[in-house]
Amino acid sequence: MKKFLVVAIAAAIPSLILAHGDVTPQAMDTSALPDVGEDWHFENPYRGSDTFDLAIKVGASGYNQNCARCHGLGGVSGGLAPDLRMLEANESGDEWFAERFRFGYTQNGITKMPGFDQILDQKAAWAIRSYLEVRPADGALEPFDAELRAIHEQLVAWSEAGDSAAVHGNEIDAIRSKLSEITGQIKTASGAETADSVVSQALAALDGSENSLKNAAEIMTVGMSAAK
Ligand code: HEC
Repeated sequence: MKKFLVVAIAAAIPSLILAHGDVTPQAMDTSALPDVGEDWHFENPYRGSDTFDLAIKVGASGYNQNCARCHGLGGVSGGLAPDLRMLEANESGDEWFAERFRFGYTQNGITKMPGFDQILDQKAAWAIRSYLEVRPADGALEPFDAELRAIHEQLVAWSEAGDSAAVHGNEIDAIRSKLSEITGQIKTASGAETADSVVSQALAALDGSENSLKNAAEIMTVGMSAAK
């Protein structure tokens, strides 16, 4: 018992150092996103626009490079800092998000979270907010596990056989409607209506293009093992 404790503590030290150490913040390439002006918005300007999906993508890498070391990969908190998937969806959570993002948090002279307003721009802030808001809740994919596994297996088999999407047109249509139905049922932790998950990403990848089977299979391989 004692020995186990020592090992556990020793193993926890490197990650604590990493969590609060001077990890250089990573610049984000937000050039593909439309400008949002100088003045800070009270509401995510990308939500509900054509660029929302792009903002989610840009925000995913920005989050994982700048925030994950404290808040957890993919927004899944390991307990060092709050789980940001839980921030309320829509305007209700936006102002608070922007406040913390810009100014961070200092308690008794100790910086618990650095402010990012000198490091990342407002476009980056709202991209990260977009990403967090549409994260699936814990266990949100579990009810669909068996169905998703079967679909994944099928896509991998076709892709490994080198089949073109055209050969399986009807079956792919059926898979697309299944994925779309499941997407509509995946819950977010924030209360946002639609989750961005491995299911919606696989659906988007299955667009009938030449590499679509391979791309969708890969998205599911990576996404479903990460969800484990
Ligand atoms: C050095 C660790 C660290 C980093 C890096 C960090 N945060 Fe934080 N963050 C914290 C801590 C600790 C808190 C809790 C502060 C408190 O008690 O209110 C927090 C709180 C927050 C909150 C308020 C959450 C709530 O539930 O009230 C938001 C929003 C937030 N962080 C966003 C971000 C974003 C976005 C990034 C990356 C751009 C980021 N943080 C990077 C440590 C960090």
